[in-house]
Amino acid sequence: MTTPTPTEAQRVQIFDTTLRDGEQSAGAALTHDEKMQIAHKLADLNVDVIEAGFPFSSPGDFKSVQEIARVISTPTGPRVAGLARTMTGDIDATWDAVKVASRPRIHTFVATSDIHINAKFGKPRQDILDMARAMVAYAVDKTKGHVDADVEFSAEDAGRTDPEFLYQVVEAVIDAGAKVVNIPDTVGYTIPNEFGGLIAGIMKHVPNVEKAIISTHCHNDLGLATANSLAGVQNGARQIECTINGIGERAGNAAMEEVVMAMKVRPDYFGGLHTTINTQHFYETSVMVSELTSMTVQHNKAVVGSNAFAHESGIHQAGHLKDSRTYEIMVPEWIGLTGSKLPLGPRSGRAAVKQRLKQIGIEPENAEMVAFFEAFKQLADTQKRVEDDDLKALFDKIQSAPVS
Ligand code: KIV
Ligand code: ZN
Repeated sequence: MTTPTPTEAQRVQIFDTTLRDGEQSAGAALTHDEKMQIAHKLADLNVDVIEAGFPFSSPGDFKSVQEIARVISTPTGPRVAGLARTMTGDIDATWDAVKVASRPRIHTFVATSDIHINAKFGKPRQDILDMARAMVAYAVDKTKGHVDADVEFSAEDAGRTDPEFLYQVVEAVIDAGAKVVNIPDTVGYTIPNEFGGLIAGIMKHVPNVEKAIISTHCHNDLGLATANSLAGVQNGARQIECTINGIGERAGNAAMEEVVMAMKVRPDYFGGLHTTINTQHFYETSVMVSELTSMTVQHNKAVVGSNAFAHESGIHQAGHLKDSRTYEIMVPEWIGLTGSKLPLGPRSGRAAVKQRLKQIGIEPENAEMVAFFEAFKQLADTQKRVEDDDLKALFDKIQSAPVS
């Protein structure tokens, strides 16, 4: 049976916010040149949108957003977005920064949950709704005259917003001209079924919803950002906001490499939902972002962790050598690695040791191999890893040992 070709309606756009929400991670500040380097890598990945920063927040941010808009955005390349509160000054600054792009976006946001509204504005809900509508209309007006500019609206803390009020806000901003409406789970509070249900509710109850793309923006406070984003697209969202390595405020954002690879590895489950990301750039981009932000990637991080394609136990190594699909659900080359790793340690088996010896040009006779493997096990018990130099030294020792 052949898999049907996925349609454009099933394409999920990838909105990268490494340079904005990612850079908001404590201690991750980037210089202008570092932001430019990352932006080039994001273009290699073929992301749909690069959120380059928050222009009103500082002259440095303004400059970086403007430069990324000028250099990176081409008619067929990524759209470049800048963030703005629902305030004319913010929107003006964002437009000034992004308007040089071939495909600029103003991304404006206001909080919609009662917790945020009461703490930050002390105003009735209706005032927030009116402000959202008016500022989206203001932003849309700014973009008039540009051939390919658009406006995105985010309902901050949508995950804790009364759904009935959220539907009204989404309807109002679409009415005012927003082409993308983002539903952030700002504090990573929701659970996948719940977040999927929120998106399904918007698709069902907002009468003009087909005029905009609904987007997810999930934070990882409960470790559910990837699962929530995927639940969102299964229920009708067609844009995922995410970052490389999942960096971002507090516990971070949904990790781009995780949401993209989930759809690539499980087309059977996601029924045609797909992205147009060049996944072979994931590993190098992950390393670059980690180095430039000084945010270490944990060894067991999904997809890009240094152990993600490493097998150490004898049973796993033997299975992997026979057929890598036994213990791997994706091919390392898909993310830009050349092969898996079979590190040698106390739990490694004869098959992996023999294969590594062969790779370094040592092919012992059967009897020699028995003696070698015994010596290997003794050595492996005394150190965490057995490297190629250790193997060579051990083999020389075995060969030069007197025959009893
Ligand atoms: O988490 C959030 O709500 C945000 C918005 C500004 C989109 O980052
Ligand atoms: Zn966020």
